[in-house]
Amino acid sequence: MTRKVHLGMIGGGTVGSGVYHALHRNGRLLSSRIGVEVKIHRIAVKAFEEPRPYEIPRGLMTTDWQSVVHDPQVNIIAELVGGTGLARTMILAALKLGKPVITANKALLSEHGEELFAAARKYGTNLYYEAAVCGGIPIIKSLREGFVGNRIAALYGIVNGTCNYILTRMKLEGADFDAVLADAQKQGYAETPPDLDIDGWDSQHKIGILASLAHGFWVSPKRIHVEGIRPISALDIKFAGQLGYTIKLLGIVKQIRNPKSEIRNRIQVSVYPALIPSGHVLADVNHVFNAVFVRGDVVGDTLFYGRGAGKDATASAVLSDLADAALDLKFGTKHRVPPFVPHERDGAVLPIEQVVSRYFVRLNVVDRPGVLAKISAILGAARIGISSVIQPEAHEGGSVPLILMLHDAPNGAVTRALARIGRLPVVKGRPVRIRVESFE
Ligand code: HSE
Repeated sequence: MTRKVHLGMIGGGTVGSGVYHALHRNGRLLSSRIGVEVKIHRIAVKAFEEPRPYEIPRGLMTTDWQSVVHDPQVNIIAELVGGTGLARTMILAALKLGKPVITANKALLSEHGEELFAAARKYGTNLYYEAAVCGGIPIIKSLREGFVGNRIAALYGIVNGTCNYILTRMKLEGADFDAVLADAQKQGYAETPPDLDIDGWDSQHKIGILASLAHGFWVSPKRIHVEGIRPISALDIKFAGQLGYTIKLLGIVKQIRNPKSEIRNRIQVSVYPALIPSGHVLADVNHVFNAVFVRGDVVGDTLFYGRGAGKDATASAVLSDLADAALDLKFGTKHRVPPFVPHERDGAVLPIEQVVSRYFVRLNVVDRPGVLAKISAILGAARIGISSVIQPEAHEGGSVPLILMLHDAPNGAVTRALARIGRLPVVKGRPVRIRVESFE
């Protein structure tokens, strides 16, 4: 029985040095809890002198990742370099040697997950990825093990700390997107360039992995409708607030019940900013924090909250995987929890055009008699109902924001109606449309 494991790490940057530090601090505790001694054997780094938040002893480092993977003493590999090129090669090389691999690489899994999982199966080993989604929140383990007896009716995630930080500050300060983004970049809360986060792609990677685990068929990123937070303005946040809502970037995975459909398991998988009731618990998830709200058909509603990124939160998830990998080696149970089990043959993602939502619409209109009638005629013809209207008082003839709350309607119908409304001469600029999520 394995009583000692040797970890080979690839990556000695923010996450890698975080894992080194966490193991230095709590390695003994972890070892005594699992009954296996865990040692870092070697860490492959880009350069010995990189800036890193925690020092790594020079004697542990090498710049040759292959020597770490191929070292016969190393029996677990952690890939902590990121990216979808070399990281894929590194992971495949380790899996081919039958070594279990831990990764924090969501972009790689989202793009090449099926290939990597198949390689783990083929070479009789396993791939662990708790750190890939929402850093310190144990959501992968919860979906695969904690909720194994549930169908996941809905999952809503605030899974990008950068966007949540920007939206929180916009709400608290009444500030516009560009100003908050620029300041967030200056303070190191947002990357430069920020596109991966603020345009929703990072959330897409995470929500795709969660949707796949929750529903048992691989949800490719191509199937996920993504909108980021760039179009959200201080005005939207202000009017949403007046109506009792807070705007959050949500990843949504929802079972769509349609008794007429031949496909049994149709799900919505999307990432977009949404108005959520300010009284809902997710509305209070602020700054860089992440949260995932999971509704299981047996358990009911559950909530996970924590830091989704950063050296320590991510290290905590890597340590959890390390414990699992060490226990699986100890008991010879490498396949106890496979990385992904495709168990749903009839699964499909519903195209966004067919998803039914409620909407907040902000128009900039000329304040003139008959304008509202023209707009509501277009909506009425498309069978889209208005549930409320706000228009601040203005001087006749000037332009003014007009806020419409719309009843449930398919996304496709609303997109077409708004395109027609946007072409009316009395409507200035592009209509802004934000979906409303009420968690029913
Ligand atoms: N950049 C991400 C975020 C963390 O802002 O949450 C890594 O996925």
